[in-house]
Amino acid sequence: MIVDQVNDTVSRIAGLTSIDELEQLRIHWLGKKGQLTQALKSLASLPIEEKKEQGNRLNQYKQLLIEAIEHKRQELDQRQLDAILHQQKVDVTRPPRHALTGSQHPIHHVSERLIKWFSEHGFEYVLGPEVETEYYNFTALNFPDDHPSRQMHDTFYVEGDRLLRTHTSSVQIRCMHNRQPPFSLITAGKTFRVDSDRTHLPMFHQLEGMLVSESTSYSQLKGLLSGFLKYLFGSDVEVRFRPSYFPFTEPSAEVDIKSHDGQWLEVLGCGMIHPNVLTEANIDPVKFRGFAFGAGLDRLAMLLHGVSDIRSFVSGDIGFLEQFK
Ligand code: DAH
Repeated sequence: MIVDQVNDTVSRIAGLTSIDELEQLRIHWLGKKGQLTQALKSLASLPIEEKKEQGNRLNQYKQLLIEAIEHKRQELDQRQLDAILHQQKVDVTRPPRHALTGSQHPIHHVSERLIKWFSEHGFEYVLGPEVETEYYNFTALNFPDDHPSRQMHDTFYVEGDRLLRTHTSSVQIRCMHNRQPPFSLITAGKTFRVDSDRTHLPMFHQLEGMLVSESTSYSQLKGLLSGFLKYLFGSDVEVRFRPSYFPFTEPSAEVDIKSHDGQWLEVLGCGMIHPNVLTEANIDPVKFRGFAFGAGLDRLAMLLHGVSDIRSFVSGDIGFLEQFK
C-alpha cells in the first residue's frame, strides 16, 4: 500500500544524514518520473468521484513528503554550516606565528659599529655628497691635472666636471673649509669605480677619518688605527704599517693585518695630510698638522665574516643574508 510506503519514507527521511540521499529520495517520490508524480498522473483515467477522493489522498501524501524533505534539508544545511563554522573558528589561545624579521646588512652593521667606535674616540660624524666635483674628488686632494694618479681610479663621470666620488676622501676638504683646528671627523658612505670582480664592485663603501691639530703626529695615527683594528678583529690581531703613496698624504702608508693562515691583508690607507691639502682648505700647514685614513667597509666585512666573493653582498640572496642575523 502506498500509504505504508509513504509513512515508511517519512521515518527514513528523519534518520538521514546526507543531502545526497535526501535528494535521491525526493527524486524517487516527487521527481518527474517519481512514484507519487506517476500515481497522480494515472488518476486522469479514473471516474470523477474516485479521482477526487484518490487525488485528495495522494496530494496529502505529497504534502507530507514535501514537508518532511524540506524540514530535513534545513536541518542538514544547518548542520553543514555549523561544521564549517566550527572548522573556521578562530582559536585565540593559539600561539602566534612568528613574523619574518629582517636584519641589518653586514656592511651597514660594520659601518655603524665603526662610526660608533670613532664617535666614542672624539670623532664627529659628517656626511658628503655621492655626486662630487672633480675639484673635491681630485684637485683639492693634490691630484695634479692629467697626472696618472687620477687614473688609479677608474671614474664614472656624470656630466661636465661632475662625477661619482671614487673615495670618501672627497669629504675632507668640504669639511675642513668650514672648520678651524683642532677637529676630528669621521665619514662613511658609498663610493664608485669602474670595476667588477670577486673583490671589487662598481659601488662599494668606505670609511674615512681625519684629525687636525697643532700636535697631531704619525704615532697618534698608528696608535689609533692599531686600536681600531684590535677592536674589530680581536686584541691579538697583528698589524703592519707599510710605506705607500697617496697624493693627499705625505708620508703615506697602507695597513695590513695578518690572517689566520699567516697572510698579510691590506685593510687601510693612511698618512699625514699633505701640506698642499691643508693649504687648499685654508689651514696653515706650518702651524697645523693632520692625519687621515680610509678603509673599505666591504673588505672589512668580508674579512670579518669570511666572505670570499664581494658580489654576495649585493646578490639579494636571503640565505646568504640570514647568516648575519
Ligand atoms: N682614498 C684612498 C683610497 O680610496 C684611501 C685613503 C688613503 C684615504 C689614505 C685616506 C688616506 O684618507 O689618508 O684608496
